[in-house]
Amino acid sequence: MADEPLVLGIETSCDETGVGIVRGTTLLADAVASSVNDHARFGGVVPEIASRAHLEAMVPTIQRALDTAGIKGSDLDGIAVTAGPGLAGALLVGVSAAKAYAWALDKPLYGVNHLASHICVDQLEHGRLPEPTMALLVSGGHSSLLLTTDITSDVRPLGATIDDAAGEAFDKVARVLGLGFPGGPVVDRMAREGDPKAIAFPRGLTGPRDPEYDFSFSGLKTAVARWVEARRRAGEPVPVADVAASFQEAVTDVLTRKAIRACRDNDVDHLMIGGGVAANSRLRAMAQQRCEKAGIRLRVPRPGLCTDNGAMVAALGAEMVRRDRSPSAIELSADSSLPVTEVSVPAVSDPHGDVHGQAYRELGGGA
Ligand code: KG4
Ligand code: ZN
Repeated sequence: MADEPLVLGIETSCDETGVGIVRGTTLLADAVASSVNDHARFGGVVPEIASRAHLEAMVPTIQRALDTAGIKGSDLDGIAVTAGPGLAGALLVGVSAAKAYAWALDKPLYGVNHLASHICVDQLEHGRLPEPTMALLVSGGHSSLLLTTDITSDVRPLGATIDDAAGEAFDKVARVLGLGFPGGPVVDRMAREGDPKAIAFPRGLTGPRDPEYDFSFSGLKTAVARWVEARRRAGEPVPVADVAASFQEAVTDVLTRKAIRACRDNDVDHLMIGGGVAANSRLRAMAQQRCEKAGIRLRVPRPGLCTDNGAMVAALGAEMVRRDRSPSAIELSADSSLPVTEVSVPAVSDPHGDVHGQAYRELGGGA
């Protein structure tokens, strides 16, 4: 246990400044400073506000995480940071901070993928991920099915949303219903009082000729808006709880149906669900029920680990160190559209196949 890698992870891809510290698969600290309230009156995340908030929160959040874990920066085996995907300006704050700490402490730097981190975080709760694992990643920016055969190097996208992400649909429907931002948690709460069968909302891309693993939530969002508008025009009250429950049922039905099909088709008997929408109580319950029926083992981290945090980045960083993966170069840059297939940003490779960055060595980093 003591010889497991000790890694600090920094997450700033959206509106949470997250700093986590992990030893192997053990969580030691998970400090999060959120600017979510600063965005609420705009009905969505404002990138400039998020970047400024990261800048202000960064050093105190790192200090808080180190204090909670009871360690010094010099004890670390590495520093991991979300290199992408995400908001460019927000990512840049985290990447710059990680580089500064890595440089000052003379520690290897790992620029990692935000989506792979959402998968790897489950190791902190349920132990090492079985390989292969099917991952259903559902957040404000993404809805993807990812076949994961090696969490540090091989994450294959099978399908993704062709329009809105699942979390985005929750946020937009919440706006239509006047429930505020972010929409997921409040729709989840309202839905508990409603009837999921009250309104038959459409299940996008579930026809026989539709792509099996892709998602579409834009039509559902429009259907909800139209239904609500029609009620308002007719001067009838909107049954908010029933709308929330029926919408939520349509989303979770499609997500779980396609995830289980992906497991079956690919002979994978472990499904993990990650990302902010994995905090949804109905999604968790329906996935559990359907997985049990299909003989699939379900892994869903606790809600606090599903939304953006630094612990997930530290978890992936620790796995990178444990598997002896190459660190990133100190010139690491943020990539707002980093593809999920790039689990980490490699060091600059040289013609001899040495992937340890030359510039990184010249700057005195790494071994
Ligand atoms: O992963 P995350 O924290 O940030 C992104 O990377 O996007 O996900 C945020 C999204 C938001 O759209 C939010 O409404 C949604 O996750 N969310 C939920 C719940 N909690 C958060 N959606 C449905 N039910 C929830 N309980
Ligand atoms: Zn996320």
